[in-house]
Amino acid sequence: MSEAKQIVLAQRPQGMPKPTDFRVEPVAMPKPEHGQALLRVIYLSVDPYMRGRISGVASYVKGVDPGDVMVGGCVGQVVESKAPGLKPGDFVEGPMGWRSHVVLPAHVLRKLDPAAAPISTANGVLGMPGMTAYFALLDVCQPRAGDTVVVSAAAGAVGQVVGQIAKIAGCRVVGIAGGARKCAFVRDELGFDAAVDYKAEKDLGAALKAAAPNGVDVYFDNVGGEIHDTVMTQIRLNARIVVCGTISTYNNKPGEGDIGPRQLRRLLVNRARIQGFLVFDYLHRYPEGLQRMAAWVKEGRIKYREDIVEGLEKAPEALIGVLEGKNFGKMLVRVGADPTR
Ligand SMILES: NC(=O)c1ccc[n+]([C@@H]2O[C@H](COP(=O)([O-])OP(=O)(O)OC[C@H]3O[C@@H](n4cnc5c(N)ncnc54)[C@H](OP(=O)(O)O)[C@@H]3O)[C@@H](O)[C@H]2O)c1
Repeated sequence: MSEAKQIVLAQRPQGMPKPTDFRVEPVAMPKPEHGQALLRVIYLSVDPYMRGRISGVASYVKGVDPGDVMVGGCVGQVVESKAPGLKPGDFVEGPMGWRSHVVLPAHVLRKLDPAAAPISTANGVLGMPGMTAYFALLDVCQPRAGDTVVVSAAAGAVGQVVGQIAKIAGCRVVGIAGGARKCAFVRDELGFDAAVDYKAEKDLGAALKAAAPNGVDVYFDNVGGEIHDTVMTQIRLNARIVVCGTISTYNNKPGEGDIGPRQLRRLLVNRARIQGFLVFDYLHRYPEGLQRMAAWVKEGRIKYREDIVEGLEKAPEALIGVLEGKNFGKMLVRVGADPTR
C-alpha cells in the first residue's frame, strides 16, 4: 500500500497561527496488531480547542509539542482489522489526529451506523460539539420555558445546536454572531427569535437590549471578552451563565490576562450562577445525549450546517479560519473519499 501522510506542529504559533507553523510529512503505512485496526481518515474535525493544545500552556490535557502529530477527532473507515467487532468497511469515530491513516485500538473507537445519520455528523451535531451544546445547556443552564437564552458564536458547531435545543425547551433565543449571513441563518433557517451582528453593531449593549428587552436568563458563552462583558450587564434575577469557551482570547500570549470589569456585585444582586464546563466530564452520559439528539435530528427539529474543505493539507488553513470566524457551521476537512455521499 502507498505511504500515508500526517501533519505535525512545526513550531509554536505566536498570536494567530500561520500555515508555516505546521508541516506535512509522508510516513510509512502503519500496521495493526492484535486488538487494533488500520483506519483511513474520511473527515477531520477542526475545533477551537486545537489552538490551546499548541500553545505550550498547561491545560486539562497534554498539549502538542513541535514535531508531534496534531490531535483531532475524526470519522474514518476500517481498512484492516485485528480487533474483534471491527471489519474492513466499518465506519468509526475516534481520536485519529491530522493523518490520512492511523492504527488505533478498538476501545477508543465508536462504531457508526451510516444508515442512521450521515457519518460526518459524528464530528458535529452527533459528536463532541453536539454533546457540548446538549449537556452545557440542559444540565448547567437548566433552561425553563419563557427564559431568554443568549448564545454567542451562534452560527458555529456548538452555538447553532444550543439555540435550537433552547427553542425546543420553549425559550426565547437570541444569537450573537459575526456578519449578516450568519445572523440571517440562525434567525431564518434555525428559528432563533433574534440575532445580533456583533461586528456591525456600534453599540452592542443597545442591540442586545432591543433583541432581549426583558434581560438575559441564560447566557451560553462561547467567546468571552467584550461580548461576555456586555451580556453580563443585562443578566436577570437567577441568571445562569455557562463558560463553554473563550475563543476571543485563544491567540493571546501565554499568561496574558483577559481584563474586563468585575461582575461580582452583579452576580450577587441577581443571585446569578456562572459555571465552567468541560464536555469530557460528560463522556459517561454521551449515550443518553446522542440518543436524544439523533431523534431530534431525524425529526427535523435540530438542523445543522457543515463547512467542508477538501484535502488534509487544508487543515492548518481551516483551523486559522475557525479562529478568524471564516467557518460557517461545523468545520470539517474531507481527508479521504466518503463512500456514503
Ligand atoms: N468546554 C467544552 O467542553 C467545549 C467543547 C466544544 C467547544 N467549546 C468551545 O465552544 C466555542 C465554540 O466552538 P465551536 O466548535 O462551536 O466553534 P465554531 O463556533 O464553529 O467556530 C468558532 C467561531 O467563533 C467565533 N469567533 C472567533 N473569534 C472570535 C472573537 N474574537 N470574538 C467572538 N467570536 C469569535 C467565530 O464566529 P463569528 O463569525 O460569529 O465571530 C467562529 O466561527 C469555542 O470557544 C470552543 O472552544 C468548548
